[in-house]
Amino acid sequence: MIQDESSAKSAIAKGQVSGKNLDYVSINDILPSDAKARLLTGFKDLDIVLGGGFLAGSVTLLTGQPGIGKSTLLMQVCAKIAKDVPVLYVSGEESAGQVKLRAKRLGANSEDLSFASSTSGNDIAKTIESGKFKFVIVDSIQTLSLNELTSAPGTVSQVTNCGNLIIRAAKMTDTAVVIVGHVTKEGTLAGPKVLEHLVDVVVNFEGDRYGGFKTVRAVKNRFGSTSEVAIFEMNDKGLSEVQNPSAALLAERQNTDGSIILATVEGARPLLVEIQALVTSTNFGYPKRTCSGFDINRLNLLIAVIERRTKLKLSDKDVFINVVGGIKLQDSAADLAVCMAIASALAKRKLSEKYVVFGEVGLGGEIRSAFRLDQRIAESKKLGFTHAIAPATIKDSFVLPVKDLRDTLIKYMK
Ligand code: TYD
Ligand code: MG
Repeated sequence: MIQDESSAKSAIAKGQVSGKNLDYVSINDILPSDAKARLLTGFKDLDIVLGGGFLAGSVTLLTGQPGIGKSTLLMQVCAKIAKDVPVLYVSGEESAGQVKLRAKRLGANSEDLSFASSTSGNDIAKTIESGKFKFVIVDSIQTLSLNELTSAPGTVSQVTNCGNLIIRAAKMTDTAVVIVGHVTKEGTLAGPKVLEHLVDVVVNFEGDRYGGFKTVRAVKNRFGSTSEVAIFEMNDKGLSEVQNPSAALLAERQNTDGSIILATVEGARPLLVEIQALVTSTNFGYPKRTCSGFDINRLNLLIAVIERRTKLKLSDKDVFINVVGGIKLQDSAADLAVCMAIASALAKRKLSEKYVVFGEVGLGGEIRSAFRLDQRIAESKKLGFTHAIAPATIKDSFVLPVKDLRDTLIKYMK
């Protein structure tokens, strides 16, 4: 029916209100959704990331690059949860045989773990609506489509509408649902960025596809904090949580020039990681700057600060930065460690292997304070370091206080 434009206009123009009164209650009378059951994943740290396990009726979006281990992690979680409640794993990507192969490898076998292969958003929502399952995996949203829409799977309209149907079904029946979403290399959800607004929790699976540590962190959580992180390692029996990541990261360290230990924080956990720098002469054209695990724009900024505020010359040098172990640093206090690694590589001088470093570097070359100082220091002490080169704001005999990049390099790299 085509609406008459003049009548549509006049209803608003007359200022008429067509809605009805909302049903409201006192906030004191509302039961918190936390009162509902939480499904524990079998991974202690992952439970913390989720705010205490999967909440009944919640919808979680698990994002990550293809091949990072999303399906593996979820199969392991399903195996654990199926011991308590009926679980359904729906895959639109893999056949039953393939999934069985993985489940067998991971030792996931349970009467209460069911599998279905489907790419129909309608069918999946309908099945969730039946209420037979308390935990459902949808792997992945990019493969789903609705009968009512003609666009291809993975497009914004398919993703949003399938997502909406599934979310509604989950809320109606108090089913905990996990939707898998692939992201592109740049970290954006291919197609369905919109989905992030619709779901309750968004957890991101990051790291190197080939070995190294993988981290799972919540970027949005309606039922918990977003500052926690779980660190995993992949082996032939699937994913396992890394118990002492700092020790594991430092195990293969060789104290060469260009190597600096940074005391960082991943989410709310302190972590010691090795930053490696390599500085070589530029042979042709522009100097090259390359990072792995560190932001390239931040590196360019730090190089500019080094050039302007110290006597080091990098304009005819290629600079490579590597963060060992597949960790992606998002910590501004990594600045000082990166600068010192570059200076160390350039001057071919080593820092004492018993020193850790942290602190933010400002454009004036000043060293600025960092957050969670106590945790960084405690972790460094625990792993046998004797001193931290760190911002002067900290009063602790463990800390060798520094205020300025130039002075720091003169004092420790000369
Ligand atoms: P997968 O979970 O399929 O990744 P995603 O669902 O995110 O695309 O698996 C990722 C990789 O993990 C795959 O290349 C094979 C490897 N893998 C192991 O190393 N050990 C294992 O036990 C399993 C199941 C997979
Ligand atoms: Mg997969």
